[in-house]
Formats: sequence, C-alpha cells, structure tokens
Amino acid sequence: MFQNIPGTFDVLPAGTEGASMPASPAWQHIEDVVRKVMRRYGFEEIRTPALEPTALVARGIGQATDIVQKEMFTFEQGDAGYVLRPEVTAPVMRAYLQHHLGQRGGVQKLFYVGPCFRAEKPQKGRFRQFHQFGSETIGAADARADAETVALMADVYREFGLRQTRLRLNSLGSPPDRKRYRQALTDYFAPYENELSETSRRRLRQNPLRLLDTKIEHEQRLLEDAPRLLDFVDDGSRAHYDEVKGWLDHLEIPFEEDPLLVRGLDYYTRTAFELESGALGAQSALAGGGRYDLLAEALGADEPVPAVGFAAGIERLFLALEAAGYDFPPDPAADVFLAAIGEEAERFVFEKARALRRAGLSAETDLMGRSLKAQMREANRSGAPHAVIIGGNELEAGRASVKHMATGEQTEVAFDGLTAFLLEQRAGGQPAEAEAAQDT
Ligand code: HAM
Repeated sequence: MFQNIPGTFDVLPAGTEGASMPASPAWQHIEDVVRKVMRRYGFEEIRTPALEPTALVARGIGQATDIVQKEMFTFEQGDAGYVLRPEVTAPVMRAYLQHHLGQRGGVQKLFYVGPCFRAEKPQKGRFRQFHQFGSETIGAADARADAETVALMADVYREFGLRQTRLRLNSLGSPPDRKRYRQALTDYFAPYENELSETSRRRLRQNPLRLLDTKIEHEQRLLEDAPRLLDFVDDGSRAHYDEVKGWLDHLEIPFEEDPLLVRGLDYYTRTAFELESGALGAQSALAGGGRYDLLAEALGADEPVPAVGFAAGIERLFLALEAAGYDFPPDPAADVFLAAIGEEAERFVFEKARALRRAGLSAETDLMGRSLKAQMREANRSGAPHAVIIGGNELEAGRASVKHMATGEQTEVAFDGLTAFLLEQRAGGQPAEAEAAQDT
C-alpha cells in the first residue's frame, strides 16, 4: 500500500477516524473567511501555477537564502528547470509584469490561497506541502499600503476571534544599508567567533543577518550589544518606518518594534513584520511579510515597482484555532434522505432525488438496493433532518410520508408538493419561494 509523502497530508471528509489534519469542511470555512475579509479590503484573487521556472524563484527570493540553498523541490525537463513554488510573492510579481497588470490603472491589490512547497524537515506546524493565503499590493510606495497590509492580516485573525497574537515590526532599509550593516555585524562578532556554534559561524560567513535569528542563549546575549540594523538604515527608510508606525497607531493596531527581526527571503526593503502566536511552539510564525520595492527589477522590469504584502500558513492557523478552542461551523448535512421499498419505488426515488437536487435541495438515496433497515441506518448517518420512505402504497396514493428524524414525527405530503415542503422546512418553516418550489 502506498502512503502519502512525509510532510504532506490528505484533507479528508468530515468524520474520518484517525485523520491527522482538519477535515475538508474546516478548510472550506477558513478559505471562506479569508475570501470574505480580502473582499472587504478590495483585494482580487489571483491564481498562479504551482510550477514556476527555477530561475524566477532563485532570483526573486535570493541565492543566499535557506529556501533557495536547500529547500526547493526542483527538477529538470528538457532544457528547462522547474520548481514547485516555495511561496507566492515572486510568482505574483512575475504575473503582474508578464500581463502588464499595472496598465489596469491604480494600485493592484491581489490575494491568493494555495499550496506551497519547501523541502524542510517536517515537524509540528512545518510541512513540505503547506498552504498559504496572502495579499500583494503592487504599485503603492506610500506607508499606508504597508499599514493596510498589516491591518488586513490582523483582521483575518480577528475574524476568527484570535487575539493572543504578537506583531513584530522592523525596517530592513535598502540593500546598501544592509551591506554596511552586514560588515558591521561581521566585525562585531569576529572576536567572538570561537564562542559561536558551528551553524552561526557558517552564517557569519555566508549570511550574517541570519545570526539575528539565533535561538542559542549565549549568542542572544552577545546580540544585545551588537550593532542595530536600524542605525544603518537611510533617512528615507527611517521616515517611511515612522510613517508606517504612525498609521498603525492611528488604526490602534498594537505592535512591538523588534530590531532583531529579519526575514528568510531577500527581496525585502524597508518594512518587515511577523505575526506570532504563543500557541504554536517552535514554529511560532503565523504570518509574515513586508515591502519589496526592488523585486520587480530583480525579475527584469525596467523600473522599480513598489509593493508590499504578507502571507500566512493555514496549517498554523489551524493549530492556533485548536489551541483557542475555536468552534467550526457544523458540517453541512443533506436536507433529505429518500428511502425506497421495492423496484418501482427505487426507480421513482432515483428520479425524485434528482428533481429535488435540481430545485436546490441536497438529497441522498441508496445506491446499492439495500434493505429498508440499512437505508434508514444510512439516513441516520447522513444527518439529514428528514427522511422520506416510498413503497407501493405511497406510489399508489401519490403521497409520501416525511419523517422528521429528530422527533420521529411523520407528515403526509403529496408527491408534487414535496419540493416546496422540504424547501420550506429548510428555510425554518417559512414558505419557500414559489419559482424554486416547482416539482418536476
Ligand atoms: P514566509 O514567512 O516564508 O513568507 O511564509 C509565510 C508563512 O507561511 C509563515 O509565517 C508560516 O505560517 C507559513 N509557512 C512557511 N513555511 C512553512 C512550512 N514549511 N510549513 C507550514 N507553514 C509554513 C513568505 O512566504 C512571503 N511570500 C510573505 C510575503 C508576501 N511577503 C510579501 N508578500
């Protein structure tokens, strides 16, 4: 028997025993809420392929990053190099440039929901195929775009009632600022090199900013006196940072400035932020993002295109919701189960079920010619509030007996009034709209 690859998972129907992840209705609910909040903010959906050219991702995210160095799923086919997208920002910018979306006028506000792939070591909250939702605001250099992105992100979690989150904010300045800072950091750590872990020594040589991420206590203490990135940031970036903070204050969005916050992707300029939840353990980041004004040029655009965005992990949102005891809406059940006794009734019921479905009801029937007892067991299991039993007598009388499953109460309904009756029941006893209630 085959098994799914470690770090991936199946999303199964509700009620499946032993499922490692929430069932499909919970995923639909998350996606519905995300879409609703995105729409409120005026974002339009964009869907890009799971497969992209490897060079796009390498150039977009940055050659020195962990993602590009060791976490990409890549393969060659003919002369071309393909990658399963590890994130969606570079693909969205590719699509923006390729389709000249800027020519639609104004700021392009785009959102997405979909799978991403990173060859990381699987653990709680960390997968090889995971799912992100996120937004990209392309064409706006103003600090309001940064603040709107943060507000949008915060409001998604708010919509789920998740308040125990922590927003960290920093400014990463521009690449020349970071270059000078990298040098300062390297100089600062040089005398301590022997005290550093092997990983940190390697980072010091290859990507010193990653040292700020260290989880080793001794190294964290050293960092307390290390130079601060913000002191190397140019005046424009600093002013922008002040404006972003001002807008966040204005919206009363709490945040903490964290001079040690760096992100795992190299395309950022100026604003960077991360949203954390204490409920997640080691993989504490629910979402992250920032401004990436130079990405378009890195992907071949003739001029800079200012942009800012965020992305969030759906699996981590689930973990946080679980910890908060979130109530997912009840799983949708069928409106009615149609049971048949005898061949003629089976023929009638099979057709009647289709008529009910065409009228907008969710109707279930037996597909295996089972006994009435087995059919009623199935009716119970389906969770449908009503069951209709049709046999020879009902066919003769042209009337069905509709059983209310919760109370056991039975109501006689003429066949041609069945659709209207069931629609009315679903609407909570209100007469259904006449046109939908036509029995066919
Ligand atoms: P990121 O921080 O790499 O940013 O990923 C965003 C979120 O995706 C993380 O906060 C986390 O919740 C989730 N995530 C990342 N890797 C995994 C994994 N292996 N398993 C489960 N969840 C994961 C980006 O991807 C940027 N594109 C964000 C952005 C958008 N910046 C500007 N626009």
